[in-house]
Amino acid sequence: MSDTSAVVATYSVSAEIEGEVHQFPCRADQTVLNGAEAANISLPSSCCTGVCTTCAAVIKAGSVDQPDAMGLRSDLQAHGYALLCVSYPRADLTLKTGQEDALYEAQFGQFQK
Ligand code: FES
Repeated sequence: MSDTSAVVATYSVSAEIEGEVHQFPCRADQTVLNGAEAANISLPSSCCTGVCTTCAAVIKAGSVDQPDAMGLRSDLQAHGYALLCVSYPRADLTLKTGQEDALYEAQFGQFQK
């Protein structure tokens, strides 16, 4: 007999948004963006499919799983960048939002010099 009511882990997210720190819970099966919305916290977003990078953040502590982050190079994921619309928490998180411009520079800056 399978257990269809398996408990999903819930993590604590501490997000710096325009200089203010907000805390909210986020389940392991929920994107960080959806967790914030459920707590009535508004984060930058647009496409919500991991393409546009509007929701870019830097993970300062903890880790996320973001298999659908098409707009983010894997080496930059390894350096802490995350697209919160497709990022599922795998630990308690401390992050800084509003990193779209920094991410753009990191991904494409070398082509503009
Ligand atoms: S909102 Fe477009 S990549 Fe997240």
